[in-house]
Amino acid sequence: MLRSLEHQRTDRGYVPVYTTSVVEQPWSKYSRVDNDVWGALFQRQREVLPGRACREWLESVERLAMGPYAIPRFSDLNKVLRRATDWELIGVEGLLPERAFCEHLANRKFPVTWWIRKPEQLDYIAEPDLFHDLFGHVPLLLNPVFADYMQAYGAGGVKASDIGPEALMNLTRLYWYTVEFGLIRTSEGLRTYGAGILSSKGESIHCLESAAPNRIGFDLQRVMRTRYRIDTYQKTYFVIDSFESLFTDTRPDLTPIYAKLRDVLPHAAGDVLPNDRVYHRGTGEGWAHDADT
Ligand SMILES: [Fe+2]
Repeated sequence: MLRSLEHQRTDRGYVPVYTTSVVEQPWSKYSRVDNDVWGALFQRQREVLPGRACREWLESVERLAMGPYAIPRFSDLNKVLRRATDWELIGVEGLLPERAFCEHLANRKFPVTWWIRKPEQLDYIAEPDLFHDLFGHVPLLLNPVFADYMQAYGAGGVKASDIGPEALMNLTRLYWYTVEFGLIRTSEGLRTYGAGILSSKGESIHCLESAAPNRIGFDLQRVMRTRYRIDTYQKTYFVIDSFESLFTDTRPDLTPIYAKLRDVLPHAAGDVLPNDRVYHRGTGEGWAHDADT
């Protein structure tokens, strides 16, 4: 699949790089195969997620009128999003540099990769594609509290990148364990709201039903100190009490926490600590024992 490129002068000469600028969604150019991949993934997750995804996410998919028949148009979704929470989707080529990504979030713009994975990548793709971004992340932008949390995260990310790479790493862990792989406590039991889970059939089941991973109550500093997995299911999932409590807990200035964490070693992804609020202590079955990220 063609991706638009721009050229940049670097120390290796004039090289092509994926553009970091906003790109128009080439909606009419999606092939039959692209739309079928969307449909297959959508249908599969629609069967898996009731009873596993949080109510707010399930309801938002309905409100956005996403369906299996065709890849949604960003412009259609934007009409609903703007009205509800003043968020807007922008098309991008793929992962953005951290600061550029955070600047978009701080301006209530959510970058969505315009291209979708290939049929042979239904179960796993290393980099985020349209399905992950659109199906996993976008629905909760309709929730007013979560929408504000995402903006605050973006503003915090810009600030952290000015402070330094360690501060940004602490904040990235917060994003990872909430926006990508978060669980939420509800009156019906634990549910997921993390996009990395919602866009993966295997992890949607694993995060809630497997005995292997830890499920631990959310604690801001604990999370910011914990390494994670990028290539396997998570060893630990952190459980928030509500979107309101997540937003409240992360609202204060994080600068003193960055300073405090600079001098301490991070926890391994699978550690359970004496003060943890443990919902489930993982058996560790199947864990990779090489280094966590
Ligand atoms: Fe993501």
